[in-house]
Amino acid sequence: RDDDRIAALLARMTTEEKLGQLQQLSWAFATGPGNPDNKKVAAAARAGRLGSVLNMFGAKDSNRLQRIAVEESRLGIPLVFGLDVIHGCLTTFPIPLAQAASFDPAVSGRDAEVSAQEARSNGVHWTFSPMMDVTHEPRWGRIAESCGEDPYLTAQFAAAKVRGYQGEDAGGLASADRLAACAKHFAAYGGAEGGRDYNTVDVSESRLRNLYLPPFQAALDAGAVTVMAAFNTVSGVPAHGNAHTLTEILKEQWEFDGVVVSDWNGVHELVAHGFAADAADAAQLALNAGLDMEMVSSTLADHGIQLLKEGRIPEERLDDAVTRILRLKSDLGLFDQPYVTESQAVAAPSRRSRAAARAAAARSMVLLKNDENTLPLDKAAAGIAVVGPFADSADLLGTWTFPRAQEKFRSGKVLDAVRAAAGGAEVTYARGVDPDGEDTSGIDEAVAAAEAAEVTIVVVGEPPSISGEAAVRSDIGLPGAQERLIAAVADTGKPFVVVLVNGRPLTVGGWLDRAPAVLEAWHPGIEAGHAIADVLFGAVNPGGKLPVSFPRSVGQIPVHYNHESTGRPYAADNKYTSKYLDLPPGPQFPFGHGLSYTAFAVGEPRLSTTVIAADALRGGDTVEVAVDVRNTGKRAGDEVVQLYVHDLAASIAQPVRRLRGFRRVTLEPGKSRTVRFRLGAQDLGFWTNAPDGELRLEPGPVDVYAGNSSTTRTKSTLTIG
Ligand code: IFM
Repeated sequence: RDDDRIAALLARMTTEEKLGQLQQLSWAFATGPGNPDNKKVAAAARAGRLGSVLNMFGAKDSNRLQRIAVEESRLGIPLVFGLDVIHGCLTTFPIPLAQAASFDPAVSGRDAEVSAQEARSNGVHWTFSPMMDVTHEPRWGRIAESCGEDPYLTAQFAAAKVRGYQGEDAGGLASADRLAACAKHFAAYGGAEGGRDYNTVDVSESRLRNLYLPPFQAALDAGAVTVMAAFNTVSGVPAHGNAHTLTEILKEQWEFDGVVVSDWNGVHELVAHGFAADAADAAQLALNAGLDMEMVSSTLADHGIQLLKEGRIPEERLDDAVTRILRLKSDLGLFDQPYVTESQAVAAPSRRSRAAARAAAARSMVLLKNDENTLPLDKAAAGIAVVGPFADSADLLGTWTFPRAQEKFRSGKVLDAVRAAAGGAEVTYARGVDPDGEDTSGIDEAVAAAEAAEVTIVVVGEPPSISGEAAVRSDIGLPGAQERLIAAVADTGKPFVVVLVNGRPLTVGGWLDRAPAVLEAWHPGIEAGHAIADVLFGAVNPGGKLPVSFPRSVGQIPVHYNHESTGRPYAADNKYTSKYLDLPPGPQFPFGHGLSYTAFAVGEPRLSTTVIAADALRGGDTVEVAVDVRNTGKRAGDEVVQLYVHDLAASIAQPVRRLRGFRRVTLEPGKSRTVRFRLGAQDLGFWTNAPDGELRLEPGPVDVYAGNSSTTRTKSTLTIG
């Protein structure tokens, strides 16, 4: 690290130049309210009043703007260019929620590596990813960007993604194929009340630390060099002005020495929150709370000098923020190489990156239901009908896709891929209904196709436009008349399978009983068609598991596996227990659920010891848990062995299950394997309500469960002595 160079540079900077480093403006497009003004951006770069630009892509364009900053500004400090490279850049991988369903963090690692290469060669230095907001809210559109409802699973994926973007070695960020990662959104954004985007979050310290913060800790441990503040309030204090989360936890307790960037206009929004009186107040509150860089709004650039004069912001805090930003630029190697080599810019997805995206998508799919082995399909079927509004759609990339990918590198279609995979079988197509709207006039044609075929593939779901940021739904069933299409196909009495392409858990209760097989394909990305066909015809045996519960109805939300126990847990024969009168207990499909074309038996967890002292755990000792898994079916396949714990009596009520380990294994028929996990202090302890962070290990029994879903009952008991 170039501390001397940074200190020397800081010493030469005027206050305006320092405040300029804190400013980030948007270039080509808007990812929030308002529109970019390129003249203003270029002028700020020339005047040395700009530290960073977002939404810039392209080697030539980024070099051109960089040249202004480096060659025309007084100090020549390079800009750092950021972009939302969320699940691919030119090669779009499946959405992050889908990737989490693979229960294989290497899937996200590969996405991040491909993304980093494509983006960095095109002038991007910094991605606003990974998003690691744990959420129990399927109505929330941003669940698509998340890893679902579990902090442990999310943490593993967050860490894999950070390593994929940044590389493993400290010097890696300066490489031509690496990106700086951004752990976002800090903190508890996934807790937005009612799932309504940007909404209030009221959270206890223990829940904050047990549920929302672990992925951030994992991302920072993996080396993430930046963090983005969240739009929500955290127990009354907006995250952008929250000294407890940004400074006490992040910078002091966790010793984070990277950059905290605001979200789009997030500093100015402190006024709308009713937390700041005006823009100057917002600037003061945000900087003093620990924010380092302001995205799009310019309260610090506009009012910083006045605030310094009035003593409302300390010079040391400003210098600290500038130092962090300069350090990021130095780590990225920008002082030595501010430009990209235009001839090396990746222009299109390579064959290898497409293959990686295809494998990732197939690995992410979850077989929800498969009565009488309806799947895999027989290539020699006498005729296959492919129906539904997404059967012939190239719009399956998912939310947060890069404009160039949307224009030039759209998804492969299911219909084309089924035709290619089906060999000799005749494949017919009918759209049936639109993704939205009540027009059912096309259903007859779909029914005719289904009647004439031996089997029908019904491709239904959500268009990506209704998933992602600011895309919240109050009804999370299939939109429009899609359920009526399924019902009409079911009425034919012929076999059919439903393929779901969606960005969130859906309520499927209305039609599930009538569908012999259901494959959850999510929004699969650029290779959607081939990946779906790979699974439908059995070239890939599905092994994904749900990273989030599927509710039976919207009224049941929140429903998640890691809930706390009430004093009156559900009992069918006792009225005075926790339940809905009109619903069975539990979700439609639980966390961790997913079938295969083969079958597996998961054995009891065997503990290396049944008693361990809390002090030994605190000192770093662990308990080994061995679990046997056997493929009892007739084909090779994947199973995800899952390990959960439940602390039976604790000073803070504990979740009834907490995922603490998982391993996806591939087994030939008849073969078995022993999977080993280790449980340590982090796995058996929990965070209390102490504001300075206390991980408590309390004596008593802890049930250790192993199985292939969160509903497993197979357990052993460990006692903390
Ligand atoms: O990174 C995003 C963030 O997640 C939501 N608001 C806009 C930012 C930049 O595009």
